Amino acid sequence: MTRVVVTGGCGFIGSNFIRYLFEHEPQIHVSNWDKLTYAGNPSNLTDLANNPCYEFKQIDIAERNAVRDAMRTYKPSVIFNFAAESHVDRSIHDATPFVITNVLGTQTLLDAAKEFGVEKYIQISTDEVYGSLGDKGYFTESTPLAPNSPYSASKAAADLLVRSYVHTFQFPGLITRCSNNYGPYQFPEKLIPLFIANLMANQSVPVYGDGLNVRDWIFVTDHCSAIYAVWKKGRVGEVYNIGGECELTNLAMTELLIESLGKPKSLIRYVPDRPGHDRRYAIDCSKMKGELGWSPSTSLENGLKLTIQWYRDHQDWVDHIRSGEYRQYYAKQYSSLTSSNTK
Ligand code: NAD
Ligand code: TYD
Repeated sequence: MTRVVVTGGCGFIGSNFIRYLFEHEPQIHVSNWDKLTYAGNPSNLTDLANNPCYEFKQIDIAERNAVRDAMRTYKPSVIFNFAAESHVDRSIHDATPFVITNVLGTQTLLDAAKEFGVEKYIQISTDEVYGSLGDKGYFTESTPLAPNSPYSASKAAADLLVRSYVHTFQFPGLITRCSNNYGPYQFPEKLIPLFIANLMANQSVPVYGDGLNVRDWIFVTDHCSAIYAVWKKGRVGEVYNIGGECELTNLAMTELLIESLGKPKSLIRYVPDRPGHDRRYAIDCSKMKGELGWSPSTSLENGLKLTIQWYRDHQDWVDHIRSGEYRQYYAKQYSSLTSSNTK
């Protein structure tokens, strides 16, 4: 039985990844370490509550003693570090939790993993560490790091720590850098779930700036299969770029969502741009394809269909989140955007 730690497993990608592991790896025990911030929702995994091969521990990865104790007790052979503060807009408001969780938390995990002899450590990073592209070109694994937001800067710092532990301590670390994910269980502060939720409620959707920023979209299950491939076949010390090969402007994505939900274009509302807004992300994932035999397999059409259906079937999940802390946060911090987010 392989003993695996997934940090941040109550969040969007982590919860999808834990489910993916149980579907693809019969001999596995998963310990989910999550602090349960605003983005962590244990109900994302209620279907696993009675699974004897699954456990949940409320742990802050930046708390050294808690992490050491848990590592000593559980003795995982593999760690997947998903835990992070993940929303760019929040990092613009206050970078502190980003540095604590994404940087100090990663270093704390690395130290404990090193001390207790973990066999593989996979750092879930982001394409945003590379900064912004112009109209042409792609991020490769050798593109220099040039993060532009406090979020991406904290993720880049974490990547460099992993790199340094590999180099200095022969630590068995690997790094994945993925483009923008979408799919079930994504917190409705990110573009796609926010817009689906607003449109379902006949509310307007706030498009930042001119709406021509480009993102490369990947369905979350394709990200999970890529991380799984990196675990099984990736080389220690390497970075692997993961992308959906699906570039769209935010406006094109917005129009697609509006059309899929049968709503009028008049619900588009242009709002002031995000400060420091990266113009374009695009991933070259030929290393994943050539070396690990992975490629994204969910078309945007299918992925969006599945995602919209999931949000339609889970209106109570959305309502619960939108009635609570999420609204209070935006009401306080983004009063200029709040009206557009919630109208
Ligand atoms: P998310 O915000 O939905 O979930 C993050 C989870 O981490 C939550 O469950 C939260 O409670 C937990 N967490 C936060 N701070 C913690 C701490 N100190 N200790 C323990 N747990 C803590 O994020 P997500 O979208 O699922 O992203 C997961 C990872 O993937 C992140 O590292 C992110 O940088 C990376 N990533 C995300 C995307 C994307 O499009 N969402 C793309 C590429 C990479
Ligand atoms: P987001 O989902 O926050 O992901 P990221 O900033 O990590 O790429 O945003 C995706 C794109 O959508 C980004 O260019 C910002 C834009 N955006 C809006 O136009 N309106 C919104 O309300 C949000 C949340 C994002």
